[in-house]
Amino acid sequence: MNTQQDASLLSYNTFGINAKADYLIEYDSLDDLRSVLKSDIIKGKKVLHIGGGSNLLFLNNFEGVILHSAIHSVEKIREDEQLVYVEVGSGVVWDDFVAYAVENGWSGTENLSLIPGETGAAAVQNIGAYGVEIQDVIEEVKVVDMETAELKVFSKAACNYGYRDSIFKKELKGKFIIISVVFRLKKAAEFNLSYQHLEEAVLKNGDIDLKNIRQTIISIRESKLPDPKVTGNAGSFFMNPVVPKQTFLSLQEKYPQIPHYYVSETEEKIPAGWLIEQCGWKGKRLGNAGVHDKQALVIVNHGGATGAEIEHLAREIQSSVKSSFGIDLKPEVNFI
Ligand code: EPU
Repeated sequence: MNTQQDASLLSYNTFGINAKADYLIEYDSLDDLRSVLKSDIIKGKKVLHIGGGSNLLFLNNFEGVILHSAIHSVEKIREDEQLVYVEVGSGVVWDDFVAYAVENGWSGTENLSLIPGETGAAAVQNIGAYGVEIQDVIEEVKVVDMETAELKVFSKAACNYGYRDSIFKKELKGKFIIISVVFRLKKAAEFNLSYQHLEEAVLKNGDIDLKNIRQTIISIRESKLPDPKVTGNAGSFFMNPVVPKQTFLSLQEKYPQIPHYYVSETEEKIPAGWLIEQCGWKGKRLGNAGVHDKQALVIVNHGGATGAEIEHLAREIQSSVKSSFGIDLKPEVNFI
């Protein structure tokens, strides 16, 4: 276990905000976590559990205890002719696991290549990209109750997954800590290339196989999304709004080019990046915060931005999208 007092959070958030926490505790096993939960250090204090910090915006210093998993185990726990079940520690960097699955020829995670963050947080957030969500490959999630320190297993159904959503973000927020996730991957080469232009892009790079799909997705992401090691950011800042079909049809009449994804008979999803770009924000800058010039859904820290500066830009974007389109954008990023 590693405990730091008055800890800098600079390397614990991809936005590159220079905030501090009263305490930062990293544990590397279930027993370690249990002793932290029973210790005096967290009693009566505000506690926040973080992953890779790729979806967080620190508005202030954190007056309390930040917990972080350093559980890095990856273990094949069972298999049959078609499927393999792999238990992955919550602290494993998500993309390291995707690389490992691809190397082993197991399919299911390849479309989620290069998404920043760690496995535990990925299962809270139900990360998604290129037509796949992490819930598509989750079998179960192992958690520890923060009050009793007891171990509990959530089936995928019990996690109530939705678009960038799960029970751990809602009803059970702050109640459980994920220690590992069991994934169910396919041994057969079965791919999902349904996302717009993905198949075309994969074919341009070579054959349709796991390695090429991963490589193509990495190239697409690198061309659109800023590398957080170079420019602070948290990926998509907002969620893509899901609107009633009627709202979408009226917008489509006015803007025939409006992109959209089918959700159900009664709802459509509109890319927030398109709405933000239409409002003229792409590449714009307010102080040290700005809108990425290749993907308007990404807010970037041009260097030295405070959480408040980024929040201010986000609010300005929300109000212009509201006044131009009547649509409320909801942040995907958590404000702390
Ligand atoms: N678009 C614009 N202008 C922009 C950005 C996007 O017009 O500046 C339009 C384009 O028409 C484009 C469409 O929006 O075809 C969709 O853009 P893109 O494929 O980049 O995806 P997205 O809907 O903006 C979502 C996820 C991303 C994920 C991509 C690919 C959300 C909030 N974001 O973005 O996830 O990588 O799809 O599947 O659902 C993240 O969550 O952090 C993230 C990066």
